[in-house]
Amino acid sequence: DRRTAQEALERLTVDVPDWPEKGVTFKDITPVLADHHAFSAIITALAAAGRDDHGNVVVDKVVGMEARGFILAAPVALALGIGFVPVRKAGKLPREAHAVSYSLEYGEAILEVHRDAIGAGERVLMVDDVLATGGTVEATRQLIEACGGVATGASVLMELSFLDPRAVTGALPISTLLTV
Ligand code: PRP
Repeated sequence: DRRTAQEALERLTVDVPDWPEKGVTFKDITPVLADHHAFSAIITALAAAGRDDHGNVVVDKVVGMEARGFILAAPVALALGIGFVPVRKAGKLPREAHAVSYSLEYGEAILEVHRDAIGAGERVLMVDDVLATGGTVEATRQLIEACGGVATGASVLMELSFLDPRAVTGALPISTLLTV
């Protein structure tokens, strides 16, 4: 359940000081992924954001953001029994794509999605590891809407609340397992 997932996340995530640059503390979740029980628990907990109170699946697609988001979003899509859509960094997708530029905790970048990856009116859940400045979730919301989809919310492992991401993501519902 949710509590088990939160405990595993707290116990196994490793804080790496001054990485990738001085003053930034990196949250390394690779030990969580390497533990089958922990990995399974966090996927179930993340997927709960795609269900209603009766356990019915209420979304049509799961979007994952490159690169760490892919690791979580793909199994969430399988758990919910729906399709997975990758949102990629610039220049990686082979066919016609929508593009949105965004600013990151450390840098600026462009995210893209295939134009035909999300159908008109489809309800889409975003899944990622960390909500930091909120720039990635906000850019992905714009990409989903550019496709004609409906961004129902985001499900993330960790929220770095000291970076105030909700100021960027606004009214979008975001469920987080751990708030730092
Ligand atoms: C990290 C993380 C989120 C994003 C959160 O990805 O996986 O996607 O930053 O930051 P934000 O809320 O400030 O936008 P990153 O761009 O470092 O890419 P990676 O997963 O390829 O390492």
